Parts: sequence; structure tokens; C-alpha cells
Amino acid sequence: MNPKGKSRLPGFHKRSPAKRLEEISQRVSKPGFGVGLTVEKADAMIENAVGVFRLPLGIATNFMVNGVELLVPMAVEEPSVIAAASNAARMARVGTGFLAQADPPIMTGQVEILDPAAGARERLENSVDEIAALADSAQPELVSLGGGMRTMDVRCDVGGPGRLVVHLHVDCLDAMGANMVNTMAEAVSHRLAEIAGGRPGLRILTNLADRRLARASCAIPFTALEREGFPGKDVAVGVSAASDFASSDPYRAATHNKGIFNGIDAFLLACGNDWRAVEAGAHAFAARNGSYSPLATWRIEGSDLVGKVEMPMAVGMVGGASTAHPRAVACLDLVGVECASELAQVAVSVGLASNLAALAALSSEGIQSGHMRLHGKKQRLPADTEGIDSE
Ligand code: MEV
Repeated sequence: MNPKGKSRLPGFHKRSPAKRLEEISQRVSKPGFGVGLTVEKADAMIENAVGVFRLPLGIATNFMVNGVELLVPMAVEEPSVIAAASNAARMARVGTGFLAQADPPIMTGQVEILDPAAGARERLENSVDEIAALADSAQPELVSLGGGMRTMDVRCDVGGPGRLVVHLHVDCLDAMGANMVNTMAEAVSHRLAEIAGGRPGLRILTNLADRRLARASCAIPFTALEREGFPGKDVAVGVSAASDFASSDPYRAATHNKGIFNGIDAFLLACGNDWRAVEAGAHAFAARNGSYSPLATWRIEGSDLVGKVEMPMAVGMVGGASTAHPRAVACLDLVGVECASELAQVAVSVGLASNLAALAALSSEGIQSGHMRLHGKKQRLPADTEGIDSE
């Protein structure tokens, strides 16, 4: 992590957007905050482009991840998300701050083989070296940088006899890796089918990137949770009870997890990452034990409230919009992350902060007073206000 200065910025929210931008811009070496996405660039990124769709970009303050202070850019249309994350990060830093880790950047490609012959599993398992060499030959640049296919699993009778699925596990380094893994899966599918004595079916990554998990935790003393009319201990007990509710009820777990993604999606969008892929993987992970469960949980330990979150976090610092979108480049620079694994660690920390903010409000004064106060303030501009689309 490349520290960029303090994240506690008292009065930041009271400044004008121009003053905030001035302050933030001093921390980044890339010019992107003032540049934005042009229609020409948009046209090179997608098909049939007619313009760019702009969203508010704001900065959540107070974050401390693994002892490093950092500012969190968020692209989001919902009022109160940034204030809530900043507020939760302020509470968390009174305790441990966020302590985060991420697995190595292993993405998994699936190759489906239909109607495999008898003994397919054994033959496939004996051909790992050959398949790895073939897969790597499709991505020489990745291999030259130290990445490439690492291992392979064979899953028989997936959904019934007649379907075998080979999983290729690929170290994608600092890329999210979808294109790399898909290319590799396509490159080896015919050979895999030949070895298995079957026919190739689908060749595509799985977004359930369960070898690429990221996790964060924090321990917050009760005193830091106090809010008007609510002693800190009561808030802690309420957050822990809300966590139990989410663990017992998929209807509540869905909303609990939505609160986590308020932070994660906004952060990933600002950093030019594929938040749909992360959402898909996280929801599948949340349902891995047969019922949909909360991705973050909270419990009381002594006089602390302790939160934990874990989920697949397939994110990248190179490729796609993270490289092509000037503001995404500037946002990544502002956060100070130096590799995909650090980006994943910040993302889950932001998710845990957003979850804490929601549960603390829900178990005390309720969500509407704070949310609607900001909502009322922020929504006064009519949609056709002159000049809102100027850079
Ligand atoms: C609203 O955007 C998110 C919440 O509903 C999350 C939650 O209920 O935990 C407040």
C-alpha cells in the first residue's frame, strides 16, 4: 500500500466540490480527476456508444486498512452511502481499524465435457502438465510476468451422468482475469475432450471465484459506537442481534448484503472494476451451504463489537476500465493500492464499513432519519437543471 496521507479530514464535507477536488488532486500523480471519460474513449470501450453516463463521484474519509490511512472514492447515486461509510470507518479506527487479507489472485475457468468415456477422470488427472503448458501457451505475456495455470480439478457427473467439468486454476496476477481465463479455457477444451473421450461444451470462467477470497475484520470498543440517545453497548448489542437475524432469515440476509454492496459496488465502480462479476460471485458464495446467508457477521467480544466479512473478490488493477477510464486510474492512484490483492482488501473493508453503518442505524434511531435527511438535501436539483452535464 502506498500511503497518501491522512484520511481523517475534519470539515471535508462542508467544503465545495471544487475545494474538495483541489485537496484530493494533490494526492494523486495521475491527472484523471479533472479529465473524465470522453465520448471518443467511450466509443473505443463499448459498441454503439452515444455518450457517457455520469454518476456522482465522492470520497469516503476516515478509512484505516491494515494500519494505513486511505481515502475511498465511490461512484454512487444513493444519498447517505458515502456519509455512512465514512462514519463507520471513523468508529472502526477507534479500535483496530480494518484488518484485511486476500488470497492469491487465482481465477477458475470451467470446461464442460459432454458424454465422457469410462476412465476420463484418471486420464485427465494424469494430463495436468500437458494441459497447463497448452493453457499457458495461449497467454504468453501473463506467463512472462509470473502468472499462468497452476492446477486443475476434475468434477464428474455434474448434474448427472454425461457431464464432466474441468476447472483450470489460473494465477492472474494484477488482472481481474476473465479474458485470460476464457482464452485459456478455449485453448485447451478440444484437447481435454479428446483425453476424456467426450465432446467439449461451455468454456468460460466461473464468477464463484472461491480460491480468490478476501476477508476483513474489525474490533470496535463500545464507547466508539455511542450515538445520540443510545449508549455504545446498546448499539453493539443491537448490531450483533441484527447479524443473528440475517443469519436466520434469507429475506433479511438479502438486505443485509445489499448494504454491504452499497459500499463495495460504489468503490469498484469508481475503480473501473466489474462489480457485476463480484456481486455474482459473492451471492453464490453466500448460498454455498444451501441457504442464503450474510456475508458479514457481528458479535460481542468482551467490551468490543467484532465484525468479519469474507467473500470472493475478483478485482484487477490492469486491463478494462481500470486502465482505460481516466477517473478510474486516478481513483486507484488516490487509494494507494499497488496490486489487485490490496484492492480486494480495501473493497471488503468498505463493505464491512457500509454494513456496520446500516446495522448501527437500524438498531438505534432507524435508517430513515439520517438517510432521508441527506436524501432531502441531495435531491432538490430538478433533472433538467442547466449545466449539470458540464465537465
Ligand atoms: C439501504 O441502501 C441499505 C440497507 O437496507 C441495508 C440494511 O438493511 O442492512 C439500510
